[in-house]
Amino acid sequence: VLLQPYNTFGIRAQARYFMPFADVQQLQAVLQDARWQAFPRMVLGGGSNVLFTRDFDGLMLKNELKGITLLREDDEYIYVKAGAGENWHQFVLYCIERQWAGLENLSLIPGNVGASPMQNIGAYGVEIRDYFHELEAWHLQDHTLVTFSNADCAFGYRESVFKKQYKGQFAILSVTYRLRKQPRFNTSYGAIEEELQRMGVRELSIRAISQAVINIRSSKLPDPAQVGNAGSFFKNPTVGAAQFAALKSAHPGIVAYPVAQDQHKLAAGWLIEQCGWKGFRSGDAGVHARQALVLVNYGHASGQEIYQLSQQVLDSVQEKFGVELEREVNII
Ligand code: FAD
Ligand code: EPU
Repeated sequence: VLLQPYNTFGIRAQARYFMPFADVQQLQAVLQDARWQAFPRMVLGGGSNVLFTRDFDGLMLKNELKGITLLREDDEYIYVKAGAGENWHQFVLYCIERQWAGLENLSLIPGNVGASPMQNIGAYGVEIRDYFHELEAWHLQDHTLVTFSNADCAFGYRESVFKKQYKGQFAILSVTYRLRKQPRFNTSYGAIEEELQRMGVRELSIRAISQAVINIRSSKLPDPAQVGNAGSFFKNPTVGAAQFAALKSAHPGIVAYPVAQDQHKLAAGWLIEQCGWKGFRSGDAGVHARQALVLVNYGHASGQEIYQLSQQVLDSVQEKFGVELEREVNII
Protein backbone atom coordinates (compact mmCIF):
# COMPACT_ATOMS: atom_id res chain seq x y z
CA VAL A 1 0.00 0.00 0.00
CA LEU A 2 1.33 3.43 -0.95
CA LEU A 3 1.64 5.50 2.24
CA GLN A 4 1.84 8.90 0.54
CA PRO A 5 -1.77 9.86 1.42
CA TYR A 6 -1.19 8.74 5.01
CA ASN A 7 1.79 10.92 5.96
CA THR A 8 1.82 14.73 5.88
CA PHE A 9 5.40 14.77 4.56
CA GLY A 10 3.93 13.14 1.44
CA ILE A 11 6.69 10.52 1.27
CA ARG A 12 6.09 7.78 -1.29
CA ALA A 13 6.95 4.84 0.95
CA GLN A 14 5.07 1.55 0.88
CA ALA A 15 3.70 -0.64 3.67
CA ARG A 16 3.62 -4.39 3.05
CA TYR A 17 0.23 -4.69 4.78
CA PHE A 18 -2.19 -1.94 5.76
CA MET A 19 -5.12 -2.56 8.11
CA PRO A 20 -7.54 0.06 9.35
CA PHE A 21 -9.29 -0.80 12.63
CA ALA A 22 -12.42 0.87 13.99
CA ASP A 23 -12.88 -1.16 17.17
CA VAL A 24 -10.84 -3.31 19.56
CA GLN A 25 -12.31 -6.57 18.28
CA GLN A 26 -11.07 -5.75 14.80
CA LEU A 27 -7.63 -4.89 16.13
CA GLN A 28 -7.48 -8.10 18.16
CA ALA A 29 -8.52 -10.22 15.17
CA VAL A 30 -5.77 -8.70 13.04
CA LEU A 31 -3.13 -9.10 15.74
CA GLN A 32 -3.99 -12.76 16.24
CA ASP A 33 -4.23 -13.62 12.55
CA ALA A 34 -1.55 -16.20 11.72
CA ARG A 35 -0.76 -14.58 8.36
CA TRP A 36 0.84 -11.53 9.98
CA GLN A 37 2.42 -13.02 13.08
CA ALA A 38 5.96 -12.78 11.75
CA PHE A 39 5.81 -9.11 10.77
CA PRO A 40 6.60 -5.97 12.72
CA ARG A 41 3.61 -3.78 13.58
CA MET A 42 3.16 -0.06 13.70
CA VAL A 43 0.15 2.03 14.68
CA LEU A 44 -0.48 5.07 12.50
CA GLY A 45 -2.68 8.05 13.32
CA GLY A 46 -2.81 11.11 11.08
CA GLY A 47 0.78 10.59 9.93
CA SER A 48 1.72 14.17 10.86
CA ASN A 49 4.78 13.34 12.94
CA VAL A 50 6.52 10.57 11.01
CA LEU A 51 9.22 10.44 8.36
CA PHE A 52 9.43 7.23 6.34
CA THR A 53 13.04 6.78 5.23
CA ARG A 54 12.27 3.35 3.76
CA ASP A 55 9.35 1.06 3.00
CA PHE A 56 7.68 -0.51 6.03
CA ASP A 57 7.98 -4.28 5.68
CA GLY A 58 5.25 -5.12 8.11
CA LEU A 59 1.71 -4.53 9.24
CA MET A 60 0.60 -0.91 9.42
CA LEU A 61 -2.40 -0.56 11.73
CA LYS A 62 -4.38 2.56 10.86
CA ASN A 63 -6.29 3.70 13.89
CA GLU A 64 -9.86 4.79 13.15
CA LEU A 65 -11.44 4.51 16.60
CA LYS A 66 -14.14 7.16 16.90
CA GLY A 67 -16.43 8.62 19.53
CA ILE A 68 -16.47 11.41 22.10
CA THR A 69 -18.17 10.75 25.46
CA LEU A 70 -18.79 12.92 28.48
CA LEU A 71 -17.86 10.47 31.26
CA ARG A 72 -18.69 12.53 34.33
CA GLU A 73 -18.51 15.97 35.81
CA ASP A 74 -18.20 17.64 39.19
CA ASP A 75 -18.31 21.26 40.28
CA GLU A 76 -14.99 22.06 38.69
CA TYR A 77 -14.24 19.50 36.01
CA ILE A 78 -15.52 17.71 32.95
CA TYR A 79 -14.09 14.27 32.16
CA VAL A 80 -14.31 13.72 28.40
CA LYS A 81 -13.14 10.59 26.65
CA ALA A 82 -12.24 10.58 22.96
CA GLY A 83 -11.50 7.70 20.60
CA ALA A 84 -7.88 7.64 19.45
CA GLY A 85 -8.93 8.10 15.82
CA GLU A 86 -10.77 11.38 16.41
CA ASN A 87 -9.12 14.34 14.71
CA TRP A 88 -7.34 16.43 17.35
CA HIS A 89 -8.42 19.88 16.17
CA GLN A 90 -12.06 18.78 15.75
CA PHE A 91 -11.94 17.46 19.31
CA VAL A 92 -10.55 20.78 20.56
CA LEU A 93 -13.35 22.66 18.75
CA TYR A 94 -15.95 20.25 20.20
CA CYS A 95 -14.73 21.13 23.71
CA ILE A 96 -14.61 24.87 23.02
CA GLU A 97 -18.22 24.82 21.74
CA ARG A 98 -19.31 23.33 25.06
CA GLN A 99 -17.23 25.80 27.10
CA TRP A 100 -14.95 23.04 28.36
CA ALA A 101 -11.68 24.86 28.90
CA GLY A 102 -8.03 23.86 28.69
CA LEU A 103 -7.18 22.72 25.19
CA GLU A 104 -7.77 26.02 23.34
CA ASN A 105 -4.06 26.89 23.13
CA LEU A 106 -3.55 23.57 21.35
CA SER A 107 -5.87 24.45 18.46
CA LEU A 108 -4.92 23.44 14.92
CA ILE A 109 -2.26 20.89 15.85
CA PRO A 110 -2.56 18.24 13.13
CA GLY A 111 -3.08 14.55 13.84
CA ASN A 112 -5.32 12.41 16.00
CA VAL A 113 -6.27 12.24 19.67
CA GLY A 114 -4.48 8.88 20.04
CA ALA A 115 -1.09 10.41 19.24
CA SER A 116 -1.51 13.38 21.59
CA PRO A 117 0.09 11.59 24.58
CA MET A 118 2.92 10.13 22.47
CA GLN A 119 4.99 13.28 22.62
CA ASN A 120 2.81 15.22 25.08
CA ILE A 121 1.87 17.67 22.33
CA GLY A 122 2.37 21.27 23.26
CA ALA A 123 2.07 24.79 21.93
CA TYR A 124 1.64 28.37 23.11
CA GLY A 125 2.28 27.75 26.78
CA VAL A 126 0.23 24.56 27.26
CA GLU A 127 1.03 20.85 27.04
CA ILE A 128 -1.55 18.06 27.14
CA ARG A 129 -0.15 16.82 30.44
CA ASP A 130 -1.80 19.88 32.03
CA TYR A 131 -5.25 18.44 31.18
CA PHE A 132 -4.64 14.73 30.55
CA HIS A 133 -6.51 12.38 32.89
CA GLU A 134 -5.87 8.85 31.62
CA LEU A 135 -5.69 6.66 28.55
CA GLU A 136 -6.51 3.11 27.57
CA ALA A 137 -4.06 1.15 25.49
CA TRP A 138 -3.93 -2.31 24.01
CA HIS A 139 -0.71 -4.28 24.44
CA LEU A 140 0.17 -5.53 20.96
CA GLN A 141 1.90 -8.71 22.20
CA ASP A 142 0.15 -9.57 25.48
CA HIS A 143 -3.34 -8.67 24.21
CA THR A 144 -4.26 -6.93 27.42
CA LEU A 145 -6.01 -3.64 28.08
CA VAL A 146 -3.91 -1.31 30.20
CA THR A 147 -4.91 2.03 31.76
CA PHE A 148 -2.25 4.73 32.13
CA SER A 149 -2.67 7.62 34.56
CA ASN A 150 -0.97 10.97 34.01
CA ALA A 151 1.96 9.90 36.22
CA ASP A 152 2.25 6.53 34.43
CA CYS A 153 2.89 8.33 31.14
CA ALA A 154 5.97 10.15 32.54
CA PHE A 155 5.33 13.14 30.33
CA GLY A 156 8.19 15.46 29.51
CA TYR A 157 8.86 18.05 26.82
CA ARG A 158 7.89 16.17 23.64
CA GLU A 159 8.31 12.90 25.58
CA SER A 160 6.38 10.07 27.22
CA VAL A 161 6.87 6.40 28.06
CA PHE A 162 5.37 5.60 24.64
CA LYS A 163 8.41 7.09 22.90
CA LYS A 164 10.82 5.45 25.35
CA GLN A 165 10.51 2.17 27.26
CA TYR A 166 7.15 1.23 25.71
CA LYS A 167 8.03 2.29 22.20
CA GLY A 168 6.05 0.28 19.64
CA GLN A 169 4.37 -1.88 22.31
CA PHE A 170 0.92 -0.34 22.65
CA ALA A 171 -1.98 0.83 20.55
CA ILE A 172 -3.57 3.77 22.34
CA LEU A 173 -7.34 3.32 22.08
CA SER A 174 -8.80 6.33 23.86
CA VAL A 175 -7.71 9.34 25.87
CA THR A 176 -9.67 11.01 28.69
CA TYR A 177 -9.13 14.70 29.34
CA ARG A 178 -10.08 16.57 32.50
CA LEU A 179 -11.24 20.01 31.43
CA ARG A 180 -12.27 23.05 33.44
CA LYS A 181 -15.73 24.52 33.74
CA GLN A 182 -14.15 27.84 34.75
CA PRO A 183 -11.45 28.70 32.22
CA ARG A 184 -7.95 29.70 33.26
CA PHE A 185 -6.83 31.78 30.34
CA ASN A 186 -3.23 31.23 29.38
CA THR A 187 -1.84 34.10 27.34
CA SER A 188 1.70 33.75 28.68
CA TYR A 189 3.01 33.36 25.13
CA GLY A 190 3.65 36.94 23.99
CA ALA A 191 2.44 36.35 20.46
CA ILE A 192 -1.07 35.49 21.73
CA GLU A 193 -1.44 38.83 23.53
CA GLU A 194 -0.32 40.66 20.41
CA GLU A 195 -2.71 38.73 18.19
CA LEU A 196 -5.66 39.28 20.56
CA GLN A 197 -4.95 43.00 20.41
CA ARG A 198 -4.70 42.95 16.65
CA MET A 199 -8.02 41.06 16.51
CA GLY A 200 -9.57 43.79 18.68
CA VAL A 201 -10.74 41.30 21.33
CA ARG A 202 -12.18 43.14 24.35
CA GLU A 203 -13.46 40.22 26.40
CA LEU A 204 -11.16 37.25 26.70
CA SER A 205 -12.68 33.83 25.96
CA ILE A 206 -11.43 30.37 25.11
CA ARG A 207 -12.84 30.84 21.62
CA ALA A 208 -10.84 34.07 21.14
CA ILE A 209 -7.64 32.38 22.33
CA SER A 210 -8.27 29.49 19.97
CA GLN A 211 -8.74 31.89 17.07
CA ALA A 212 -5.59 33.85 17.98
CA VAL A 213 -3.59 30.60 18.03
CA ILE A 214 -5.09 29.57 14.68
CA ASN A 215 -4.10 32.93 13.18
CA ILE A 216 -0.52 32.79 14.47
CA ARG A 217 0.00 29.21 13.37
CA SER A 218 -1.43 29.84 9.91
CA SER A 219 0.95 32.76 9.43
CA LYS A 220 4.14 30.79 9.91
CA LEU A 221 3.60 27.05 9.74
CA PRO A 222 3.21 25.46 6.30
CA ASP A 223 -0.14 23.75 5.61
CA PRO A 224 0.59 20.08 4.87
CA ALA A 225 -2.15 20.20 2.22
CA GLN A 226 0.04 22.70 0.32
CA VAL A 227 3.57 21.54 1.14
CA GLY A 228 4.71 18.35 2.83
CA ASN A 229 6.02 18.68 6.41
CA ALA A 230 5.69 17.28 9.94
CA GLY A 231 5.90 20.50 11.96
CA SER A 232 9.06 21.15 13.99
CA PHE A 233 11.63 18.64 12.85
CA PHE A 234 13.88 19.12 15.91
CA LYS A 235 13.28 19.77 19.60
CA ASN A 236 14.36 23.00 21.22
CA PRO A 237 17.56 22.02 23.07
CA THR A 238 18.21 22.75 26.75
CA VAL A 239 21.63 23.89 27.97
CA GLY A 240 23.10 24.54 31.42
CA ALA A 241 24.02 27.92 32.91
CA ALA A 242 27.73 27.88 31.97
CA GLN A 243 27.13 26.86 28.38
CA PHE A 244 24.36 29.42 28.10
CA ALA A 245 26.59 32.22 29.39
CA ALA A 246 29.29 31.31 26.85
CA LEU A 247 26.75 31.16 24.01
CA LYS A 248 25.21 34.45 25.04
CA SER A 249 28.53 36.29 25.06
CA ALA A 250 29.54 34.87 21.68
CA HIS A 251 26.04 35.40 20.18
CA PRO A 252 24.23 38.22 22.02
CA GLY A 253 21.11 37.83 19.86
CA ILE A 254 20.53 34.22 20.87
CA VAL A 255 16.85 33.43 21.59
CA ALA A 256 16.27 31.45 24.79
CA TYR A 257 14.12 31.27 27.87
CA PRO A 258 14.85 29.92 31.32
CA VAL A 259 13.46 26.54 32.41
CA ALA A 260 14.03 24.62 35.65
CA GLN A 261 17.24 24.99 37.75
CA ASP A 262 19.73 27.07 35.76
CA GLN A 263 18.60 25.51 32.53
CA HIS A 264 17.88 27.47 29.36
CA LYS A 265 15.85 26.32 26.42
CA LEU A 266 17.22 27.62 23.12
CA ALA A 267 15.06 28.38 20.09
CA ALA A 268 16.37 25.82 17.61
CA GLY A 269 14.74 27.80 14.79
CA TRP A 270 17.05 30.70 15.60
CA LEU A 271 20.16 28.48 15.66
CA ILE A 272 19.22 26.95 12.31
CA GLU A 273 18.44 30.33 10.77
CA GLN A 274 21.83 31.68 11.91
CA CYS A 275 23.50 28.80 10.07
CA GLY A 276 21.93 30.14 6.88
CA TRP A 277 19.40 27.36 6.29
CA LYS A 278 16.16 29.32 6.31
CA GLY A 279 14.55 29.04 2.88
CA PHE A 280 17.24 26.59 1.68
CA ARG A 281 16.17 24.13 -1.00
CA SER A 282 17.95 21.21 -2.63
CA GLY A 283 15.82 19.32 -5.12
CA ASP A 284 12.45 18.98 -3.39
CA ALA A 285 13.82 18.93 0.17
CA GLY A 286 14.00 22.24 2.00
CA VAL A 287 13.92 24.35 5.13
CA HIS A 288 10.73 26.38 5.48
CA ALA A 289 11.21 30.08 4.64
CA ARG A 290 9.09 31.35 7.56
CA GLN A 291 10.10 28.84 10.26
CA ALA A 292 13.57 27.30 10.08
CA LEU A 293 12.63 24.51 12.51
CA VAL A 294 10.34 22.98 9.88
CA LEU A 295 11.72 20.83 7.06
CA VAL A 296 9.57 20.60 3.94
CA ASN A 297 8.97 18.36 0.95
CA TYR A 298 8.12 20.43 -2.13
CA GLY A 299 6.80 17.38 -3.94
CA HIS A 300 9.01 14.43 -4.74
CA ALA A 301 11.68 14.41 -2.05
CA SER A 302 12.37 10.96 -0.64
CA GLY A 303 12.48 10.27 3.07
CA GLN A 304 16.22 9.70 2.71
CA GLU A 305 16.70 13.15 1.18
CA ILE A 306 14.78 14.83 4.02
CA TYR A 307 16.74 12.80 6.56
CA GLN A 308 20.08 13.73 4.94
CA LEU A 309 19.11 17.40 4.98
CA SER A 310 18.27 17.07 8.68
CA GLN A 311 21.73 15.60 9.26
CA GLN A 312 23.39 18.54 7.47
CA VAL A 313 21.36 20.98 9.60
CA LEU A 314 22.28 19.09 12.76
CA ASP A 315 25.99 19.04 11.84
CA SER A 316 26.15 22.74 11.06
CA VAL A 317 24.42 23.74 14.32
CA GLN A 318 26.85 21.49 16.19
CA GLU A 319 29.79 23.10 14.42
CA LYS A 320 28.70 26.73 14.83
CA PHE A 321 27.23 26.59 18.34
CA GLY A 322 28.48 23.33 19.87
CA VAL A 323 24.84 22.40 20.52
CA GLU A 324 23.46 19.03 19.54
CA LEU A 325 19.93 19.08 18.15
CA GLU A 326 17.65 16.11 18.63
CA ARG A 327 15.05 15.09 16.05
CA GLU A 328 11.47 15.44 17.22
CA VAL A 329 9.80 13.66 14.30
CA ASN A 330 9.50 9.85 14.55
CA ILE A 331 11.95 8.39 12.03
CA ILE A 332 10.76 5.11 10.49
P1 FAD B 1 1.32 9.98 13.67
O1 FAD B 1 2.25 10.81 12.87
O2 FAD B 1 0.38 9.09 12.93
O3 FAD B 1 2.16 9.10 14.69
C1 FAD B 1 3.18 9.68 15.49
C2 FAD B 1 3.79 8.58 16.36
O4 FAD B 1 2.81 8.12 17.28
C3 FAD B 1 4.21 7.35 15.57
O5 FAD B 1 5.35 6.83 16.19
C4 FAD B 1 3.04 6.39 15.70
O6 FAD B 1 3.44 5.04 15.63
C5 FAD B 1 2.53 6.74 17.09
N1 FAD B 1 1.07 6.61 17.23
C6 FAD B 1 0.12 7.35 16.60
N2 FAD B 1 -1.11 6.99 17.02
C7 FAD B 1 -0.94 6.00 17.93
C8 FAD B 1 -1.83 5.20 18.73
N3 FAD B 1 -3.16 5.34 18.67
N4 FAD B 1 -1.29 4.27 19.53
C9 FAD B 1 0.05 4.09 19.61
N5 FAD B 1 0.94 4.81 18.89
C10 FAD B 1 0.46 5.75 18.07
N6 FAD B 1 3.22 18.84 17.61
C11 FAD B 1 3.20 19.52 18.78
O7 FAD B 1 3.41 18.95 19.85
N7 FAD B 1 2.98 20.86 18.81
C12 FAD B 1 2.74 21.57 17.69
O8 FAD B 1 2.54 22.78 17.76
C13 FAD B 1 2.75 20.88 16.44
N8 FAD B 1 2.56 21.56 15.28
C14 FAD B 1 2.57 20.89 14.10
C15 FAD B 1 2.34 21.62 12.92
C16 FAD B 1 2.33 20.98 11.69
C17 FAD B 1 2.07 21.78 10.43
C18 FAD B 1 2.53 19.57 11.63
C19 FAD B 1 2.49 18.86 10.31
C20 FAD B 1 2.78 18.85 12.79
C21 FAD B 1 2.81 19.50 14.04
N9 FAD B 1 3.04 18.83 15.25
C22 FAD B 1 2.99 19.50 16.45
C23 FAD B 1 3.33 17.37 15.23
C24 FAD B 1 2.07 16.48 15.19
O9 FAD B 1 0.95 17.23 14.84
C25 FAD B 1 1.79 15.82 16.54
O10 FAD B 1 2.91 15.07 16.93
C26 FAD B 1 0.57 14.90 16.50
O11 FAD B 1 0.23 14.48 17.79
C27 FAD B 1 0.80 13.67 15.63
O12 FAD B 1 -0.44 12.99 15.51
P2 FAD B 1 -0.69 11.91 14.39
O13 FAD B 1 -1.99 11.27 14.65
O14 FAD B 1 -0.52 12.51 13.04
O15 FAD B 1 0.50 10.90 14.69
N1 EPU C 1 13.03 31.73 15.50
C1 EPU C 1 13.92 32.29 14.62
N2 EPU C 1 13.91 31.84 13.33
C2 EPU C 1 13.07 30.89 12.89
C3 EPU C 1 12.15 30.32 13.79
C4 EPU C 1 12.15 30.77 15.10
O1 EPU C 1 14.71 33.15 14.97
O2 EPU C 1 13.14 30.55 11.71
C5 EPU C 1 13.00 32.24 16.89
C6 EPU C 1 12.15 33.50 17.03
O3 EPU C 1 12.79 34.38 17.91
C7 EPU C 1 10.88 32.99 17.68
C8 EPU C 1 11.38 31.82 18.52
O4 EPU C 1 12.45 31.28 17.75
O5 EPU C 1 10.29 33.96 18.48
C9 EPU C 1 10.33 30.77 18.81
O6 EPU C 1 9.69 30.40 17.58
P1 EPU C 1 8.18 29.87 17.56
O7 EPU C 1 7.32 30.72 18.42
O8 EPU C 1 7.79 29.68 16.15
O9 EPU C 1 8.28 28.49 18.31
P2 EPU C 1 9.32 27.29 18.20
O10 EPU C 1 10.11 27.25 19.45
O11 EPU C 1 10.07 27.35 16.91
C10 EPU C 1 7.75 25.59 19.38
C11 EPU C 1 7.25 24.22 19.13
C12 EPU C 1 6.09 24.26 18.15
C13 EPU C 1 4.97 25.10 18.74
C14 EPU C 1 5.52 26.50 19.01
C15 EPU C 1 4.52 27.37 19.72
C16 EPU C 1 9.08 22.69 19.48
C17 EPU C 1 10.06 21.77 18.86
N3 EPU C 1 8.29 23.36 18.64
O12 EPU C 1 8.31 26.06 18.16
O13 EPU C 1 5.61 22.93 17.96
O14 EPU C 1 3.87 25.17 17.88
O15 EPU C 1 6.69 26.41 19.85
O16 EPU C 1 4.40 26.98 21.05
O17 EPU C 1 9.00 22.79 20.70
C18 EPU C 1 5.82 20.98 16.58
O18 EPU C 1 6.14 20.37 17.59
O19 EPU C 1 5.73 20.42 15.48
C19 EPU C 1 5.55 22.41 16.66
C20 EPU C 1 5.24 23.15 15.59
